Amino acid sequence: MGHPLQRCWKDCAWQTVGDMHDRYEKIPVQVYPEAGEAACRVAVEIASLIRSRQEEGRDAVLGLATGSTPIPLYRELIRLHREEGLSFSNVTTFNLDEYSGLDANHPESYTRFMREQLFDHVDIGEGRTNIPNASGDSAEELENKCAAYEQKILDAGGIDIQLLGIGRSGHIGFNEPGSPVTSRTRVVTLDRITRLDASADFQGFHNVPRTAVTMGVGTILEADKVFLLAWGKGKADVVRIAVEEPESEVVTASFLQRHFNAEFVLDEAAAGDLTRLRYPWLVDSISWTRRMKRRAISWASGKTEKPILKLVDDDYNESGLGDLIAEGENSYSLNIATFNDFQHTITGWPGGKPDANEETRPEKSTPHPKHAVIFSAEPQDALVGMGATINRLKEQGHHVTLVALTSGNLRVRDEEALKLIRCLKTVGQSEQISHQLGDHVERLQVGDAEAALNPEVRKLKSAILRAEVVDSASALGIDEDALQFLDLPFYESGRFRQFHVTDADHEAVAKLLETLNPNLVFVAGSVADPMSPQGIAFQLVAAAIRKFPITTDHIWCYRHREEALKPYEIDMSVPISPVQHELKGNALQRLRAVVDLRNEESLNDDRSVAAAYDELGLAEYEAMEVFQRVKVEKL
Ligand code: PGA
Repeated sequence: MGHPLQRCWKDCAWQTVGDMHDRYEKIPVQVYPEAGEAACRVAVEIASLIRSRQEEGRDAVLGLATGSTPIPLYRELIRLHREEGLSFSNVTTFNLDEYSGLDANHPESYTRFMREQLFDHVDIGEGRTNIPNASGDSAEELENKCAAYEQKILDAGGIDIQLLGIGRSGHIGFNEPGSPVTSRTRVVTLDRITRLDASADFQGFHNVPRTAVTMGVGTILEADKVFLLAWGKGKADVVRIAVEEPESEVVTASFLQRHFNAEFVLDEAAAGDLTRLRYPWLVDSISWTRRMKRRAISWASGKTEKPILKLVDDDYNESGLGDLIAEGENSYSLNIATFNDFQHTITGWPGGKPDANEETRPEKSTPHPKHAVIFSAEPQDALVGMGATINRLKEQGHHVTLVALTSGNLRVRDEEALKLIRCLKTVGQSEQISHQLGDHVERLQVGDAEAALNPEVRKLKSAILRAEVVDSASALGIDEDALQFLDLPFYESGRFRQFHVTDADHEAVAKLLETLNPNLVFVAGSVADPMSPQGIAFQLVAAAIRKFPITTDHIWCYRHREEALKPYEIDMSVPISPVQHELKGNALQRLRAVVDLRNEESLNDDRSVAAAYDELGLAEYEAMEVFQRVKVEKL
């Protein structure tokens, strides 16, 4: 598996929508193993439209989107321009939306985004790019501007291909829940989920604009062809609702069901909740692996609200699992086998139990102790995802190294930097501060978003986060010398949703892995948005392991934020006692500077997994940290 962005269309293998899916899927869906492949396929369609229009001496009109989702596609279009002579001279573009009140040069303005991510790198004509503008006008003037935008689309002959992302609120453009199907370009109020998801970009929820201007659902539906792209597990739930539930204003992407030529283009993680992938036995006859049985039977247990060991033949039949029984097994033996499978995921020995029979344990008992290397994309990740397990590994005698791949400075609030500057000034460091930061202090004070991206300011924020992480890790029994901070360049030179990985990042991770030579590895992000720090970190670690094979045949993925694992996806659950849970809470409280760390939510997630195990009829624990095994050969 190479870096997804290095793949190209000719390598793409894609699954088509079969008749069996039609029962559930109300929109054509294409699923690709990776986002890079999916993006290449859409880029090919766009390039072919542009070229065929060139031959006819006509324009191509594209509807464009922003956010992390279209970036792999824009990079492929830029590559086609540079390497394969694709000209954009006959292209006109209309962007979906823009935040209210942001200057065109604001780091988060979509005008700047489009320049940096596409327009500055291709030969698109000046004046041919259009982005709605929602700034500084009276309501009436705004209404006129919106109407003029619609008119301009019509004058251009309408949109040939419209690209869309999907927000976790279900929005397309900024058509938040409640937007009517007939809506046109207008000013809207942003949904709370949308603002929460943008809070790290804007250094805090309160800085995220409350309103924006967006093309309406009606405007979008008039495009000739619509591609909605989505990557990562965080989108899986809303994608399923849009594709499989009846269309409704609650998830405006569902209105694409009525479009004659709309298509969802997904990576496997974003498609993961679709019935065909999540409950394949409902869609087709399947060959039953042990893992699939675990999934189906735990699903039947949830559906019937019965613990696994109480399921009877009728429950199997009514849950569409009749063929499992028909294969000659009975519910009693299936129940016991599945119960045991779940039971064997539970271990208080995440590094393996010395001298124990390892057959039914998730992790091998030898060698002991192990050298555990725990990677975080941003320094706080592992503490949140597996803080109690880190403590346990250490207590059980393993050698533990925590590796923070990036500085995480984009997550640190401006206020925290200003607080530190104030402290330093109080203890007589004024001169040093002005020497290092110049007028950036004043600019930060007035909320200048550009100042927050200044390298010196970012350095200060890195130092703050580093100090907090050292403190937090010490609460879990990990000394400072067990921590390594890599400050990878892709993060230092980038911003959320717009990172660019280079060889320098790959080399740094590979070198570290070679030096550490671990035999127990933890990382998150295998199903994250591939443009997120976590998605990138996973790809970098995977590439490094391919280069320097480690002395174990698997790695462990811990849970990161929206990547909650369903019980059937879990290969190892480490139970957490109330006392350990409190210890983890204490450690997380020490991470005060992090913009949108939802400590309580993380601690509750650990409780929810334990509750899910309890509902299946397994032992009831206070909380659990959970992991998925990924075979090294699959990386
Ligand atoms: P994202 O945003 O591409 O950054 O995930 C998509 C959207 O909100 O439409």
